[in-house]
Amino acid sequence: MAFPIHRPRRLRRTSALREMVRETTLAPSNFIYPLFVVEGRDVRRPIASMPGIFNLSLEHALAEARQAYALGVKSVILFGIPDHKDARGSQAYAREGIVQRAVRELKNALPELIVIVDVCLCEYTDHGHCGVIEGGHVLNDDTLPLLAQMAVTCAQAGADIIAPSDMMDGRVAAIRSALDEVSLTDVPIMAYAAKYASGFYGPFREAAQSTPQFGDRRGYQMDPGNVREALREVDLDLEEGADMVMVKPALSYLDIIRVVRDRVDVPVVAYNVSGEYSMVKAAAQNGWIDGDRLMLEILTSIKRAGAEQIITYHALEASKLLG
Ligand code: PBG
Repeated sequence: MAFPIHRPRRLRRTSALREMVRETTLAPSNFIYPLFVVEGRDVRRPIASMPGIFNLSLEHALAEARQAYALGVKSVILFGIPDHKDARGSQAYAREGIVQRAVRELKNALPELIVIVDVCLCEYTDHGHCGVIEGGHVLNDDTLPLLAQMAVTCAQAGADIIAPSDMMDGRVAAIRSALDEVSLTDVPIMAYAAKYASGFYGPFREAAQSTPQFGDRRGYQMDPGNVREALREVDLDLEEGADMVMVKPALSYLDIIRVVRDRVDVPVVAYNVSGEYSMVKAAAQNGWIDGDRLMLEILTSIKRAGAEQIITYHALEASKLLG
């Protein structure tokens, strides 16, 4: 009988061999950990749809960031949830706003931690949209100065990276020139460049209390069927001065991560969003899947698709397993 000439199984025989030939590996330094910061003291409120994730007041956010840093997760992304919301999201760009205070507190206590701020109005507006509203429509150009002001106040508070997630046209340019004008020329912009109008953000909106009170976000976030449009968004953000680009969500958009990675020379980030996290948790709680195993497989697939950095709610548990 003829023997097979090629036997790929030879290199799969032992765990050491498999490790030797593994093409994609995960490390805690690949993860960015999201924190939902709320006002008040001693708040550590569980988010029902995201087991293990909490709304945190400042001292608890700091404790969580410390834990992340100790595990090798060197960066966090902050979402501020103010008590007071209004039509123009004024707490988003208040000097003493919750997210500005959180930045100061974290940078004070952990100067080496990379603190990223999600710049958007939806957590701060009473209508839950990402910009200023007129006649049921989000006004693009009227929103830009508010986003720029939010970026400036956060950078002045010490934020290391500004991450606009609003999907208004021209916001990267508006933020870049506002930062430059106040001499914050060295603060990078991580643009949510290809951000889709996705059902996977459901649990986040519980966490951030940012569900739109009318309509949806399809008028500014991208249509899930589009690839070329994602490339155009990425090109525009880079032209406007973005230093890194993001694809969001991650899991149903691995093809987008790949084409973006192949096209640009800047770092590519992917957001493993709330619904992706909740699906794993729910199925694991039912005993239908092995949650840890799926978590690592999903994170590996996102990195394999081309993302160097992954924003993920799994950051701490994955780092513990990898440790
Ligand atoms: C907007 C923002 C959202 C997410 C990150 N930034 C919500 C949205 O666009 O509706 C979603 C993240 C997630 O689902 O984990 N500030």
